[in-house]
Amino acid sequence: MAKTERKPWRVTALTLFPDAFPGVLGASIIGGAEKSGIWALETVDIRDFSTNRHRTVDSPPSGGGPGMVLKPDIAAKAIDSVASADVLSGDERPLIYMTPRGKPLTQKRVRELATGSGIIVFCGRFEGLDQRVIDTRHMEEISIGDYVLAGGEVAAQVMIEACVRLLPDVLGDATSASEESFENGLLEYPLYTKPREFEGRAIPEVLLSGDHKKIADWRRKQQEEITKARRADLWQAFDQGDDHERD
Ligand code: ADE
Repeated sequence: MAKTERKPWRVTALTLFPDAFPGVLGASIIGGAEKSGIWALETVDIRDFSTNRHRTVDSPPSGGGPGMVLKPDIAAKAIDSVASADVLSGDERPLIYMTPRGKPLTQKRVRELATGSGIIVFCGRFEGLDQRVIDTRHMEEISIGDYVLAGGEVAAQVMIEACVRLLPDVLGDATSASEESFENGLLEYPLYTKPREFEGRAIPEVLLSGDHKKIADWRRKQQEEITKARRADLWQAFDQGDDHERD
């Protein structure tokens, strides 16, 4: 009972495809956490703010070029319907626009977002959103990686899942969020479990030694080797001692 007394971490997703939610967010521990009131998801259909008969929301880019652009008047109305309710309730949330042009999402930003009262996330489609709405509504542009998805819905779900798993009482084991990749600026060490031998490969002897200091040293060395080999960028930041300040 005590667990549900805290106000839920609130997510409002603005989208042209409300059916795409909750998607993966309805499954497993994240879905369970919503059911128990730790977080709450609401979707807003951007198309509901179109005023014309055909419910169109887009038009061709000024200056020419491929595709269509989401109209600023419709996007603004959709955003304002949510943001003004936040202002009235005194509980303003960051407004995030998922776009491959955005700043890359990091575990540091995820931690910050999870600490607040929730997020409003705008899922783009088409070629993009009219720049004037991005500017006037002070949208924070976030990308989940250097590749292009068909729209922002999956990207939003990635970001929401990363935040929700950090909320209090979501992960069973309190240590499982603190010893993983990125939390100390390094990638995670390799994991093993029974059986002792699998297809001719043994579990590294040190892990069965019971010597906690030796195990911790071995894991740390593995983290460093893996990070050096796979992520020169992370390794450099770590080596320069700014591992917790990456943004
Ligand atoms: N929309 C399309 N591609 C995306 C990406 N890589 N990150 C965030 N939003 C997107």
